[in-house]
Amino acid sequence: MKIFIVGINGKMGGAICACAEREGIEVAGGLDITPGGKYPVFAKAADVDVAFDVIIDFSRPASLDGVIALAEARKVPAVLATTGYAEEQLAKIAALAEKVPVFRSANMSLGVNVVESVLPALASALGGFDVEIVEAHHNRKVDAPSGTALQMLEAVKKGLPYEPREVYGRQGECRREKGDIGVHAVRGGTIVGEHTVMFIGEDEIVEIKHTALSRNIFAVGAVRAAAFLIGKEPGTYDMNDYIAAGKRG
Ligand SMILES: NC(=O)c1ccc[n+]([C@@H]2O[C@H](COP(=O)([O-])OP(=O)(O)OC[C@H]3O[C@@H](n4cnc5c(N)ncnc54)[C@H](O)[C@@H]3O)[C@@H](O)[C@H]2O)c1
Repeated sequence: MKIFIVGINGKMGGAICACAEREGIEVAGGLDITPGGKYPVFAKAADVDVAFDVIIDFSRPASLDGVIALAEARKVPAVLATTGYAEEQLAKIAALAEKVPVFRSANMSLGVNVVESVLPALASALGGFDVEIVEAHHNRKVDAPSGTALQMLEAVKKGLPYEPREVYGRQGECRREKGDIGVHAVRGGTIVGEHTVMFIGEDEIVEIKHTALSRNIFAVGAVRAAAFLIGKEPGTYDMNDYIAAGKRG
């Protein structure tokens, strides 16, 4: 498998290169507005002149049009791990998935995806409890709340018999109403990623927490997802498909 990395000179791009080197997977090059590095790096999709089997994207939403152009021109699958896409970009991704296989997950780690799979059942069983989601990341993260926190919110909502009001942070007079779900973002230092879902009842709290100790878990997940996509029919895939296929990291 030859991979092409969008955002190759970023933190996750570096983690993917290290993972590929450990596993003997070839890195054909990458797309990045930041030049440098030991692999061929292109600033624009139209300039890419290397061959590859699959694209892995950890960059910024602004790179999406280039990624789509490249995936369509080469007819290769794409793993989209970038977070913070706008609604109209999600529609473009859905259109791409009609032509090539597209794997998208705001969190490529096995642990987070297993947490998300149990959240609907917990939310349903603890129906009367207040729910709050707290995430923490390093001080250079651009978007808030994290894509993973939003995925966890959607997983909780699946188990609730009512449509909650989403409250992003609180300040001033903002008493909690029944049926609110609070979502809070902490930013500082080098935190790789922490997500806690709190179910808070009368005199008891159930917390489910995932801590990422290194970026490697996302890199390994993305490389596994890339291998999983090769040879698949066009369509949208995520970690649930990967887990359902009996894959475990
Ligand atoms: N799905 C997951 O599991 C997961 C895990 C970690 C990070 N992420 C997401 O991956 C993305 C990258 O994270 P990071 O920590 O590596 O960030 P980073 O800032 O370290 O790296 C981003 C890279 O993308 C490049 N870039 C920016 N705009 C570009 C454009 N228009 N075209 C091409 N390249 C461009 C930058 O030059 C940089 O090298 C973020 O959206 C982050 O939230 C997802």
